[in-house]
Amino acid sequence: MAVIPQLIVASLLLCNFRFAWGAARADLTQELLAILRSPQDYNKDVMPTNSSGPVNTEIQLYFRDIKVNDLTQVLTVDMYFRMKWHDPRIPFTRTTSPSIMSDDWALLSDVYAAWIPDVFFPQGSNTRREKTVKAQTFIRVYQSAPNMMYSTRLTVDFACPMNFQGYPHDTQTCGLNLESYAFTADEMNLNFDTTPGAISFTPVGYRNFFINGFTTDRCDAKTSTGTYSCIKVNLEVKRASSPYLCSIYIPIVSLVILAFLSEFIPRTEFVAKLLLVTVSFLAILHGSQNFATSAPVVAYTKAIDVFLGFSLAAVFLQLLKVLLCNYSVTCSVTQKSAIVDTEDGTPGQWMPRARAYLGYGILATYGLFLLCYCGYVSSF
Ligand SMILES: *[C@@H]1O[C@H](CO)[C@@H](O)[C@H](O)[C@H]1NC(C)=O
Repeated sequence: MAVIPQLIVASLLLCNFRFAWGAARADLTQELLAILRSPQDYNKDVMPTNSSGPVNTEIQLYFRDIKVNDLTQVLTVDMYFRMKWHDPRIPFTRTTSPSIMSDDWALLSDVYAAWIPDVFFPQGSNTRREKTVKAQTFIRVYQSAPNMMYSTRLTVDFACPMNFQGYPHDTQTCGLNLESYAFTADEMNLNFDTTPGAISFTPVGYRNFFINGFTTDRCDAKTSTGTYSCIKVNLEVKRASSPYLCSIYIPIVSLVILAFLSEFIPRTEFVAKLLLVTVSFLAILHGSQNFATSAPVVAYTKAIDVFLGFSLAAVFLQLLKVLLCNYSVTCSVTQKSAIVDTEDGTPGQWMPRARAYLGYGILATYGLFLLCYCGYVSSF
């Protein structure tokens, strides 16, 4: 059959085409470097000009990962940072390769060979460009405007003032500003790229916080040296609160219920009763003190403080009740004479009746509190 030789020829042609395409990009890069390195054509210290206004720089951000340190109130973002602008000094008029596609680009890995916008992060306390085998950065030069596209991987630490009223169900909004360092607003204008997905993020599920969404804003800055174009992305980061269910809510609520189970221990077993409530009380106290060491310290009340305080108070009241009932008259529901009406139909004494139901009253109030608490924290 003649199919096999035809396949061989076809695959050879394909390889040849691929090879030619790669070679064309290499040719373009050669050509680009020739322009960038000839002093009469190009000077990387001089910014490109725009006859009708400032040079537009469009920004794209892709957040790969975030780390939130709520003790120092610092957000660290690991992102792909891209800028697009037009440099009319780099035209591909001299292209000689016949196989060059109209949307192909030349790749420049030495980004300092060309002029690039000097965008910086005013709130950034530490900005690092990732370096592995080579710096993770490149410029693509296209043939149509805006012809320059710079891409790099950046890690930026920036301060984010946080509010912990809803802790550990809080959502924080952290604004990251981007501004030109040297070029005033009439020389360079910053904008976020308007194409869909220009600002995006990976949904990271294994951190203590995750990105919930973002908004963008302008923050043009007027300083003594001029007005600078500034853009801002407000990242909404939400704390992953599900770990707290197992580490704090379920244990504490179980301890409170355990303390109330002492109601069912006969009054004669006073030591057992006292032990159960005291152990629950001490366990909640220890748990909340332990938890406080990992929680941010602030001057106002956090949601979790209300929960822990209320749980501790409920068990403390139960403890008081157990102690008082030992010294006073019958007030346990297991002691029939206290609550059951006497045989001749006259009601039992109201004091012991009230005291018998005191434990249930505390438990019911605690249940009501838990409902209100759920409603409260879901508003954050
Ligand atoms: C030049 O300035 C005009 C007016 O501000 C703007 O619309 C245009 O995008 C700018 N061109 C470039 C390449 O920056």
